[in-house]
Amino acid sequence: MLEKIENLKAEIENLSATSSEEVEALRIKYLSKKGEISALMNDFRSLPGEEKRALGAPLNQLKDFATEKIAALREALENKEVDAAEFDMTRSASPVKLGTRHPLSVVRNEIVSIFSRLGFSIAEGPEIEDDWHVFSSLNFAPDHPARDMQDTFFIQRNPDVLLRTHTSSVQSRVMENTQPPIRIICPGRVYRNEAISARAHCFFHQVEALYVDENVSFADLKQTLLYFAREMFGPDTKIRLRPSYFPFTEPSAEMDISCNLCGGKGCSFCKHTGWVEILGCGMVDPNVLDACGIDSKKYSGFALGMGVERITNLKYQVKDLRMFSENDTRFLREFTAAH
Ligand code: DAH
Repeated sequence: MLEKIENLKAEIENLSATSSEEVEALRIKYLSKKGEISALMNDFRSLPGEEKRALGAPLNQLKDFATEKIAALREALENKEVDAAEFDMTRSASPVKLGTRHPLSVVRNEIVSIFSRLGFSIAEGPEIEDDWHVFSSLNFAPDHPARDMQDTFFIQRNPDVLLRTHTSSVQSRVMENTQPPIRIICPGRVYRNEAISARAHCFFHQVEALYVDENVSFADLKQTLLYFAREMFGPDTKIRLRPSYFPFTEPSAEMDISCNLCGGKGCSFCKHTGWVEILGCGMVDPNVLDACGIDSKKYSGFALGMGVERITNLKYQVKDLRMFSENDTRFLREFTAAH
């Protein structure tokens, strides 16, 4: 009997299984009521007392050994199944969810990149400004309506601390500190005290460009505008300049481009004119150059300014300005492919 016990122990020690069904079959074979160990137990009961004493311990050890072995086989198999699920190399990788760039950033970056190809570099200034940089240095008369409380947000009761109403303020800051040649592009946020609607907001974004050097002419401005319009809206884009007025430029103009929705034929977007207005521009007024410490007899310059929301609307037909500041991810996700 001892030999049988040892043989069974050796047999059980070498057991292996590849599925839980196999483990169950082994349990039945060795440990069930009709199993091999139970059969030995039955034989054991009819043995004479002396042999019982000698074989009791080895037989019990065999039963414990088999029970542990079957349990170990079952556990190993369960772990293996979990591992397989966790490291299934055939599963496709889970996609990494990238954020999307805001449409205004996409368009701002594009404008900056077009001008940087012409040698313009970025300049930035503060959003909280003073009267001098936003108005006085830019040739706004003391009673100019743009200074009015209805347009400008003043901070505190002090009329000299205000939120800039346009990025032209960066022009005067740069000109005060730099002698020509100056070739800068100034993107940034601006504020106006407007009632919020689909077509107006109390803050929006502008990009300003300024070029000051000897002999800068209106022809330089026109060529720069044409290059910009074609790069931004496609090679077939036409431009036209209409005379206009800004305190800081003389002469001043507003630029229209051929409507990029109907190609100039006329549609509801361009109010059936075939043209849409996109920016203001002109030759820097000599008063502005002088106010900023640049000799207007020696140097001349051109400036232009545009609204980023306006350009974005033209490119992507966003009907309601408020969409830009609501952070609705369904809207933002539409621009995943735009950068
Ligand atoms: N600052 C003007 C505005 O906010 C835009 C503008 C017009 C900028 C003409 C310019 C310019 O530099 O030359 O409406």
